[in-house]
Amino acid sequence: MADQPIRILGIETSCDETAAAVLEDGARLRSSVVASQMATHGKYGGVVPELASREHLRAIVPVVRRAVEEAGIAYSQLDAIAVTQGPGLVGALMVGSVYAKSLAFSLGKPLIAINHLEGHIYAILLEERLNGRAEPEFPALSLVVSGGHTLLAITETVGSDSAGTGPVLHHRLLGRTRDDAAGEAFDKVAKLLALGYPGGPVVDKLAKFGNPHAVAFSRPKMKGNPLDFSFSGTKTAVLRYVEHSGMGEEISARRAFRQQHPKAPAAELAEHCSKTTLDLVASFQHAVVDELVQHCIEAANVDSVNSVFVSGGVSANSLLRETFQGLGGTFPPVYFPRLGLSTDNAAMIAAAAYPKFLAGCFADLSAPVDAALALTEAPARGMQEAR
Ligand code: KG4
Ligand code: ZN
Repeated sequence: MADQPIRILGIETSCDETAAAVLEDGARLRSSVVASQMATHGKYGGVVPELASREHLRAIVPVVRRAVEEAGIAYSQLDAIAVTQGPGLVGALMVGSVYAKSLAFSLGKPLIAINHLEGHIYAILLEERLNGRAEPEFPALSLVVSGGHTLLAITETVGSDSAGTGPVLHHRLLGRTRDDAAGEAFDKVAKLLALGYPGGPVVDKLAKFGNPHAVAFSRPKMKGNPLDFSFSGTKTAVLRYVEHSGMGEEISARRAFRQQHPKAPAAELAEHCSKTTLDLVASFQHAVVDELVQHCIEAANVDSVNSVFVSGGVSANSLLRETFQGLGGTFPPVYFPRLGLSTDNAAMIAAAAYPKFLAGCFADLSAPVDAALALTEAPARGMQEAR
């Protein structure tokens, strides 16, 4: 047993990606398969929960099978099955959870329940391990920015496994969004401007053609906790700008173009955008990035941290990365996962499960999914404990 690698199958179905991955000893990625539902939700400009569940049902078996095949192992060589237990869309979570439980039961392997938000944070530790680099120093300031969440937390380690490759993490919430998540704001603005779905990547690319200082957005003032976020004001400011600038005709024409060419590259789409639109897109992105980065600067001034972890789908944003990387000075080192580990994936779920496996922290097959699971809560390990 001592010389045998520990192989964990991770399964992720919390939103609109069906993903499975096999991770060895918490540090070697044998496979990572992600089936995106973008084409299904694209025409609605956002995720439709019922369609997401249906797509997960269709994809879960082939995606897991491919992950195991690409890992070059047999199911019997897996040591545990890890699955996202929350937060996320309840129907989507249930597909992954029920499948993971069935697999764990039939193979006689332990089940490990993972918090999706913690998974995003583990993507950073996985990135460093995949590159053979030393573990980042804790405590860390964690910014998790995705389509469903935007939060800031202090992440600390509580002990380490004997191999020294998988610290168990503990998180203290500093702030979170009071309305839209940052990714949601990107998606809604892209929908309003008929740019396509998901909004983040297309806004990121189109923003390069515009002036980020052309439209001034006022930074939201947070009563109470200054480290809370708000993005709905910025989104509404975009709507008002669109109404006052008479952009309706241009948006209708672009919608027709997008319907005919849903896969048109950004450079071609830019040709269907006026300078006003490109400037608006660049300025909106700049405002969101500024809000995220300023919060991290303020938090790092209050709490003494040795690292900053930026994770979740929005961490793929090129301006966000450039801005953090340009901070320098006394600002702590900033870590990002590679793009494929920023957006939803199952490698991060398997990475988060590794220290739990070593600690023998297994879930009961009756463990319920939890659509509203908070970062600071451990996933329920079974009905007994959930009561
Ligand atoms: O983490 P994720 O894949 O799923 C959730 O857990 O929500 O994040 C998806 C979000 C979407 O809102 C998408 O628009 C955003 O991440 N996103 C980006 C970029 N790539 C993905 N936002 C800004 N810039 C990007 N390059
Ligand atoms: Zn996510």
